[in-house]
Amino acid sequence: MNYVRAFLQDPLVATIAGTSPIAARKIVREANLGSARCVVEYGAGDGVLTRHILNGLSSDARLIALETNARLAEKLSGIRDERLTVYQRSAADIEEIVCGPVDVIVSGIPFSLIPQKAAILDAAARVLAPNGRFVAYQVTPRLFKDLRARYEKVSANVAPINIPPLFVLTGERPLR
Ligand SMILES: C[S@@+](CC[C@H](N)C(=O)[O-])C[C@H]1O[C@@H](n2cnc3c(N)ncnc32)[C@H](O)[C@@H]1O
Repeated sequence: MNYVRAFLQDPLVATIAGTSPIAARKIVREANLGSARCVVEYGAGDGVLTRHILNGLSSDARLIALETNARLAEKLSGIRDERLTVYQRSAADIEEIVCGPVDVIVSGIPFSLIPQKAAILDAAARVLAPNGRFVAYQVTPRLFKDLRARYEKVSANVAPINIPPLFVLTGERPLR
């Protein structure tokens, strides 16, 4: 219900249902959180994937979750976990929010609807550590070529058990 109401008022919510548990587990596996100390989530929504990320995160790591929609950001802020910091801010602002290198960015923002796509992807590559990963789940594979231009290695997977099915696109090691 969170997403239906939010989507009716804000097309950038871009979904009427949260990511399924099976797809969320696949996205978290792709994120390879094992040794991550600083993780950022773009478009965290009401926190459906955030909870899975927190489950996979070590106890001394931190997760910064960005969500632009006020209704969803309020729900997200209800997650009580001392590793989590929530901002009702855009992914475009990431360089004003983080002060050290980021190990992993997990992104659900609908890049096909976002005019600042290139600026957001460039900023993400700048804040990532040299071994950093950018994992995006999207309804189309179109972002693949944008990641190829910015990362040393890029891979694509599918998470079919979701409405709609998702492409999980991963860029490793940002090109400097
Ligand atoms: C497809 S939903 C994903 C929601 C949730 N993470 C999930 O797994 O179901 C995309 C989310 O990105 C948010 N969003 C859109 N543009 C954004 C931006 N520039 N920065 C941060 N969040 C954004 C939307 O409000 C929406 O909650």
